[in-house]
This record gives sequence, structure tokens and C-alpha cells, in this order.
Amino acid sequence: MTPPSNLAYVPFISVENMMRLVHSIGVETVLKELTDAIEHDFARWPLFDKTPRVGSHSDVGVIELMPTSDGELYGFKYVNGHPTNTKQGLQTVTAFGLLAQVSSGYPVLLSEMTVLTALRTAATSAMATRHLAPKGSKVMAIIGNGAQSEFQALALKAVVGIEEVRLYDIDPTATAKCARNLAKTGLKVVSCRSSQEAMEGVQVVTTCTADKQYATILSDNMIGEGVHINAIGGDCPGKTELHRDILLRSEIFVEYPPQTRIEGEIQQMAKDHPVTELWQVINGEKPGRRSAKQITLFDGVGFAIEDFSALKYVYDRALKTGHFQQLDMIADPDDPRDLFGMLQRAAEPA
Ligand SMILES: NC(=O)c1ccc[n+]([C@@H]2O[C@H](COP(=O)([O-])OP(=O)(O)OC[C@H]3O[C@@H](n4cnc5c(N)ncnc54)[C@H](O)[C@@H]3O)[C@@H](O)[C@H]2O)c1
Repeated sequence: MTPPSNLAYVPFISVENMMRLVHSIGVETVLKELTDAIEHDFARWPLFDKTPRVGSHSDVGVIELMPTSDGELYGFKYVNGHPTNTKQGLQTVTAFGLLAQVSSGYPVLLSEMTVLTALRTAATSAMATRHLAPKGSKVMAIIGNGAQSEFQALALKAVVGIEEVRLYDIDPTATAKCARNLAKTGLKVVSCRSSQEAMEGVQVVTTCTADKQYATILSDNMIGEGVHINAIGGDCPGKTELHRDILLRSEIFVEYPPQTRIEGEIQQMAKDHPVTELWQVINGEKPGRRSAKQITLFDGVGFAIEDFSALKYVYDRALKTGHFQQLDMIADPDDPRDLFGMLQRAAEPA
């Protein structure tokens, strides 16, 4: 059979190549560079196509498509969220994504995004924390010590200078796993028996618990003056992590209000509850933290532009380092209108 031409091939980053790529650069360097890449795209926010992601909900979870474009490249991510999956040995979140040229519509990259989503979610928290947390923050809590947790800790270490992480999870084996994974990273790790204990003396907290209901991971009495909160686990209709009273005391920062009002912590509030869009803080159009005593809340649900930035980042790095394969993915007829003729290349001889 005639081999496909170069037009057929799309660079593909498998899970194995993603792992090799991340280690060839260094996990913390990747997290820092991704934070800068996402921030670069947030700074040019108005020129992106924006739409709330398209979710297909069931009793046990959600499957979502997250598209966007900057006019040159188009990207989308397929991602699921199934909080009870771990009970069957499956992950809560898995993902893959694609980048394509707007000019021709031809894909330029297909990539695994389960690992990449954890990296980009952590980088987005780091970006928000860099702009909103009190200066010189050194101690953070992580409530929910599952798949996202180590990435959150390392991103805040690399980008904001966090030195101590206080862990809590309803499942002590998750905390033990997280503590073990962070043991040789240079972070001081403290395993706690309650959220209350985890919150002692922190300037920053990330909540990344998985549930499919309105939960109260943090109550109002646990949040002292000046704390910055990254609430990233509440990312679906009917799924939140913070008591409403915390929201009433906080200055709230979001990615894309039309999506966050459906999916974020603010689904608990009135439709016009005031929020600030994070890209405007990054651009200097709106203030971030205004006083040392203020409570700031990044109500992060995950937005398509973060995945677009992450795909563009790994596309560039994979092409430079060779950590990709070529996938025969696009049919390439000799005559672009003779697709049927191309099919005959594989016909069995009569
Ligand atoms: N905002 C975003 O961009 C973004 C990105 C990725 C994942 N997420 C969300 O973050 C959450 C965590 O994802 P993951 O991949 O780490 O899930 P995971 O299932 O691997 O881990 C979740 C952990 O939360 C713990 N937990 C559940 N209820 C708790 C409670 N009441 N108190 C303390 N711990 C509790 C579980 O025991 C588990 O260890 C999910 O809801 C996921 O949808 C958000």
C-alpha cells in the first residue's frame, strides 16, 4: 500500500512522552513556565473565542468539551469528572486534547491531557496566588489530597515560594500518599487530622476535593483575615466546597463569569453577585488584593484558554525535544477530491 504523505501525520504526545517531556524539563520548571504561558494568554483574553464548556451530565459524573481559539490556533479538550471512579480503581479526571490551524482546519497536535490538566490547573492556581495572596506567603493548606494535590503544592512552591504544606483528606491513605510524594521536594509537609488543624497558621489554602454535591469543606470560622483561597474542586453545577458565609466575606476572582456562575462556588450566590475577572487583574485594569486583611477567593473551575495555553506550551517543547510520535490521522488523497480513490489503496486484490 502507498505510504501516507506528510500531510497525513499529526504529532501525538502519548502519556509516556508527556512523562518523559516533563522530566526532561523538570516538574517545577514546567509548572513555572506553564504559569507564565497561561498568564501570557490571560493578558490577551479579549481576542479569544469564549464559551462556557459543553457538559454532558449523568448521576455519577460529567463529560465536557472545552473549545477556544485565538484566531491562529483552535484548541479543545475532552475531560471527564467522576468523583466515585476512584472506588473502582479509575481516576476522577482523565483528558486529551487537540490543537488545529485556523487557516486550514488541519490538526497540528493531539495530546494526552490527564497529566497536563493537573499541571495546568496547578499553574492556574499559582498564577492566581501570585496576584492575590499576601506578600511573602510561606504556609499553605491542601484539603483533598488526591490526583491534583502534589501538583498544587509544587506549583505554589515554584511560583510563590511556599515552604510548608499542611495536608488534610477524609481518607488518611490519600494524605499519606501525598506526603510520601512530596517528601523529597524540599517542602515541609505536615499531615493533619482535620481541616481545622490544616488551616492553622496558613496564608493560602487550596481545596481540591471530589464530590458531586454541595459540600462544606471549609466553614467560615476556619478562614482568618488575609487568607487567599484557591477553590478548585467545586467545578460543576450542584458541586461546591465552601460555606456561603466565606463567599460573603471574600473578594471573589473568576476566570469566565458565564461559566463560573453555573459551575463555581458562586452558584450559591445571586446571579449578579460582584466578581472580578482574573485577566483584568493580570492586565492591571482591576485591583487584586487591596489590603493585608482582605480574604481573596479564586473560584477556579478551569477554563478552555488554560488548556489552549498548555497545549501550545507542550507542542513547542515536544517539537524541540522529540518527545512525540507521528500519528497517521488525516486522510491524504492524492487528489483532495478523490477520497474514495484513496480508500482503494487498501483494497484487497481481486
Ligand atoms: N478547577 C479545575 O480546573 C479543576 C481541574 C482538575 C480537577 N478539578 C476538580 O478537583 C477535584 C479533585 O480532583 P482530583 O483529580 O484530585 O480527584 P481525586 O478523586 O483524585 O481526589 C479527591 C480527594 O478528595 C478527597 N475528599 C473528598 N471529600 C472530601 C472532604 N469532604 N474533605 C476532605 N477531602 C475530601 C477524596 O478522599 C480524594 O482523596 C475534582 O472535583 C475535580 O473535578 C478541578
